[in-house]
Amino acid sequence: MSRYLDALRQAEGERSAPRVDWEREPRPFRVITVTSNKGGVGKTTVAGNLAVYFRALREDLPVLVVGFDDQLTLDQMFAIGSGAPDLTVASAMRIGNLNAAIRLGQYGVHYVPSSEDLSDLKRMIEDPFRLQQVLLRTGWEGLVVIDTKSDLEILTQNAIAASDLALVVVADRPSLRQAERVYELMKGWGRPLERARVLLSMVDLRIKYERGQTQDVLGLLVSEIRRRGFPLFESFLSRSPLVASLYTNPEERVLSILHGAEGSIVRQQMQHLADDVLRALEEIAGALPVPGRARAPIAGSAADADESAEPPALEVDAQDNALGLEVDEDLEVWLDRSLGRTDLEHDGER
Ligand SMILES: Nc1ncnc2c1ncn2[C@@H]1O[C@H](COP(=O)(O)OP(=O)(O)OP(=O)(O)O)[C@@H](O)[C@H]1O
Ligand SMILES: [Mg+2]
Repeated sequence: MSRYLDALRQAEGERSAPRVDWEREPRPFRVITVTSNKGGVGKTTVAGNLAVYFRALREDLPVLVVGFDDQLTLDQMFAIGSGAPDLTVASAMRIGNLNAAIRLGQYGVHYVPSSEDLSDLKRMIEDPFRLQQVLLRTGWEGLVVIDTKSDLEILTQNAIAASDLALVVVADRPSLRQAERVYELMKGWGRPLERARVLLSMVDLRIKYERGQTQDVLGLLVSEIRRRGFPLFESFLSRSPLVASLYTNPEERVLSILHGAEGSIVRQQMQHLADDVLRALEEIAGALPVPGRARAPIAGSAADADESAEPPALEVDAQDNALGLEVDEDLEVWLDRSLGRTDLEHDGER
């Protein structure tokens, strides 16, 4: 086994091309990585559902989801039909190109099948910039959304290093402390901090404080994040039992918030977030690289896809107006209107 790993490492060394200037290199794709060193904060929920919303909001933008976690949640959300895939993210990363593993999934989202065993791959990779090379070779035209495991090990580092924008998910004070490590990593690589933004997730607005300058967990976390100087999305996601129910239901697959949580506040928040993320990405990395025509499915055939694989673009457009979400609104105004809240009192930090 160790000889096999040594051989793979050697092959890896031989394959690694000179590093590219990730910020300036012209690429037909943009990369969003969802990360947090703390478990259970909502990373996979955010990554999978953002992909669905991106497809719904931007029909012309192909979206590829890649999971660097050894759970199969994303496959349970996107896979069409059953049966073990020939290639997974682990085998494709070893080959050095994701192309042959890419499948067309539900909602018109493409995905690379996850692997339950990433340990050999982790041992094989030493370079945090390996994924940049793999993605350049893959040449996906559109968006790549990467979900990471709750660690800062080599695969997560690769996902952050290859991102144009990292979403650093924070749900509480422990996860905020873990977020600091992502920013340290970014500083170590000399990457601009605005390429990593904190996203507040699973916020429970029922928790109120009687003491201190902030009234609730949202106000408290926002003021602590601002004090640290971390870039922050105005959009946030509430804790909702409806979201949890999407994972366990009679349909035996993970449902998307867009299709399974109608009427919920999280459905509106996710749309708001998807808009914010696309806007932030364009501010950071310029116009999104939309291909001339939609890319044909690679490993999975379009004929395998059922009706639900079509992005419900019209439905979302209609929703957009019905909800009246203005992406330029600031957090408090939006909160007041959506939740009927009173002033948040951010102790004059805005
Ligand atoms: N906004 C939310 N409201 C309520 N429950 C949520 C919300 N987001 C996620 N959950 C639930 O919390 C659990 C963890 O979510 P998720 O798997 O997305 O987190 P994660 O950060 O990817 O976890 P891990 O570290 O294990 O990869 C899931 O059961 C999910 O249903
Ligand atoms: Mg996860």
